Amino acid sequence: MTSQFRVSNLTKTFGSNTIVDQLDLDIQDGEFLVLLGPSGCGKTTTLRCIAGLETPEGGSITFKDHTVFDASSRINVPAYKRNIGMVFQSYALWPNMTVRENIRYPLKVRGMKSAIAAGQVETAAGMVDCGALLDRYPSQLSGGQQQRVAVARGLVAQPDLVLFDEPLSNLDARLRDQVRSQIHQLHQRLGFTAVFVTHDQAEAFALGDRLAIMKAGKIEQYDTPERVYETPSSDYVAAFIGMANRLELVRRHEGWTTRAGAPVDLDAAGVQGDYISGDTALGRLRPDDLALHHSLDEVRAGDVGFVGDLVTSEYGGRYFDVTVDAGGEQLFVRADAELHGRWLRGAAIGSPLVVSFSPTKLRVFPHPDGHVDLQVPVLAQAARSEA
Ligand SMILES: Nc1ncnc2c1ncn2[C@@H]1O[C@H](COP(=O)(O)OP(=O)(O)OP(=O)(O)O)[C@@H](O)[C@H]1O
Ligand SMILES: [Mg+2]
Repeated sequence: MTSQFRVSNLTKTFGSNTIVDQLDLDIQDGEFLVLLGPSGCGKTTTLRCIAGLETPEGGSITFKDHTVFDASSRINVPAYKRNIGMVFQSYALWPNMTVRENIRYPLKVRGMKSAIAAGQVETAAGMVDCGALLDRYPSQLSGGQQQRVAVARGLVAQPDLVLFDEPLSNLDARLRDQVRSQIHQLHQRLGFTAVFVTHDQAEAFALGDRLAIMKAGKIEQYDTPERVYETPSSDYVAAFIGMANRLELVRRHEGWTTRAGAPVDLDAAGVQGDYISGDTALGRLRPDDLALHHSLDEVRAGDVGFVGDLVTSEYGGRYFDVTVDAGGEQLFVRADAELHGRWLRGAAIGSPLVVSFSPTKLRVFPHPDGHVDLQVPVLAQAARSEA
């Protein structure tokens, strides 16, 4: 498939700060791309550059075969000529216009009279279940309704590209799920090309054909949701997509261990050859990949076990979110409520417990310092899981 839309080497600075840093994106026709990253990493700035609301210092932006921005040849097509739809975080409806006038606006500024005559405004309103609200003003709508109207306004002119900047973040949890699913259905039905910004990983996984994980103005990983979930490319990405447990691993003469000295089979974790060059590495695990036990005897052979103390335990319905202190390392465990609820309910802070994981669940990354720290004591308790 040819790339419908390409951003190359995009650079945007504010004063002495580089906010978008030689960023590349290629988006296929009909693809729903999610830009995911923490607050301040440059997501909105990237969208504003694509839309033509900011002028980048470097790089180029092309739609199919026409260039809308190129710093070196000084091409800069103004925003209103770029044929882009935008949906913002704050609904940004014009308060003095009715729903009908709001949705009609992009058709009017583009001079698309025949589309208006053909009922495209009503069709767009109908797609987001707002057909009955056309004569109301934004102040007479709920937040969810306002955001659905904003989605209809973003799509009505059938733009080449639709940009969404955290459109769900102002909605309460239930509405957020509803509008998210509506955007997903609309995309499947209409097949528009989209860049959707969020810092919510669940939203990203639910909506994206591909995810671009952003870090400080650059793309850290650009891949399908499944591959990002299963094989995050760096410790940063792993942390960002919910692998909240960070374990320091140490290479000793007998092989890799945890800091506490429990052997960890890095072959089982899929670590190949000389991927880790130093004598330390970082392991990442999801809270669901850790199991709770009463004693080390319950840990399966080959799994890695830790002795620790209970720090907190929070009820979440089907599960408890449990924080454990294991010799100075904080571990986060999502424990099945049916299996563990009874004793967790009664357990005092500081109660001893055991946590384990299968090394097949571990994702391993080079340590940023890669330094050797052979001062780490080997604890007797840890030797057990070798047996
Ligand atoms: N007009 C501006 N002038 C100066 N600095 C700016 C301007 N716009 C954005 N920035 C800075 O650029 C950085 C990135 O901002 P941006 O809004 O792109 O982040 P973001 O990833 O969208 O964050 P959030 O998730 O909080 O919306 C921030 O440090 C911000 O302060
Ligand atoms: Mg933003």
